[in-house]
Amino acid sequence: MNVNGRHYRTIWTEGSGEEETLLIIDQTALPHEFRVVALHSVDDVCRAVREMLVRGAGLIGATAAWGVWIAVRTAPEGDFAAFMAQSMEKLRATRPTASNLVWALERQKKALAGLGRKEAVEAAHAEAQTIADEDAEFCRRIGEHGLGIIRELAARKGGQPVNILTHCNAGWLAFVDHGSALSPVYAAFNAGIPVHVWVDETRPRNQGASLTAWELGMHGVPHDLIADNAGGHLMQHGMVDMVITGADRVTRRGDAANKIGTYLKALAAHDNNVPFYVALPSSTFDFSLYDGVSGIPIEERNADEVRIMSGLSEKGQVERVLICPADTPARNWAFDVTPARLITGLVTERGVCEASERGILSLYPEQA
Ligand code: MRU
Repeated sequence: MNVNGRHYRTIWTEGSGEEETLLIIDQTALPHEFRVVALHSVDDVCRAVREMLVRGAGLIGATAAWGVWIAVRTAPEGDFAAFMAQSMEKLRATRPTASNLVWALERQKKALAGLGRKEAVEAAHAEAQTIADEDAEFCRRIGEHGLGIIRELAARKGGQPVNILTHCNAGWLAFVDHGSALSPVYAAFNAGIPVHVWVDETRPRNQGASLTAWELGMHGVPHDLIADNAGGHLMQHGMVDMVITGADRVTRRGDAANKIGTYLKALAAHDNNVPFYVALPSSTFDFSLYDGVSGIPIEERNADEVRIMSGLSEKGQVERVLICPADTPARNWAFDVTPARLITGLVTERGVCEASERGILSLYPEQA
């Protein structure tokens, strides 16, 4: 996607041979600063994922894949296998909820099986590049499939904007390019369909306010930032035509883990007959799980993310402020699970399907 007129992906390499460097956009600096950061070691990569310089299911997967390439090229001569096993484990342990992380590591493991260090450098690079390219292409296709849904809603609105509510950030910043939930929005906007997005701020880390609002603004898509709890009210008053979110892990029957608060939006949508879609590439499915509420591991992050907010002060500096009494304990679950029964449809790179095992297998019969 474009940033001030220049096309960027969220992760890429520059240079060649020994000089080739892995680069990312530091998402903790957005929206106040656009900062590109180089990652040189496996520890750099792990820190970038854990501290959310990179975040979002697809981008976490792509970063892990590039992390394996960095592991291979920085592995000590004599101790290749042990170093690789340890690096894979470090990468795997960074964040627990998004399926894409383990999925990408498994792909790299297969690509490198039986290879020595020298051949592995090239193979790991090729696989990481393929994973990144596939992520971008699958998200582009999600946009095409989701566009049909928005087009239909637009036809019923006779020229009035289609009001779309989204939670967190499942735009291009959460993937390598295009995004999942926002990809259909960009496709509709590019096709000249009038759209307007309600952007949930998405406490505690405010990915909606800092990332989704920034992305949509860069692309010129009309939007309004709303408090997390406003969605139900807007739905009751006919101000939301559809909800679309991303997902971090979706089970084989269609239960979807996504940013904390998504479940409440789905309940409100259900109560108000507002269609609720979840967009995801196939790398986000976990076909080994059925019941998402009991089966999907939910990351619990540092309580200070709830207690402390950061933002631009009147002095023009990014500052952190405590929003509760200094000794208030807090808890910080990062995701929740929306049961399939509350989801109108899943928008994937292969098309739109019902959120059910039958629906999902109709698009992915190889998983039957
Ligand atoms: O904690 P994050 O920012 O990595 O969470 C991921 C998300 O941004 C959302 O849950 C998103 O909707 C799914 S990722 C495409």
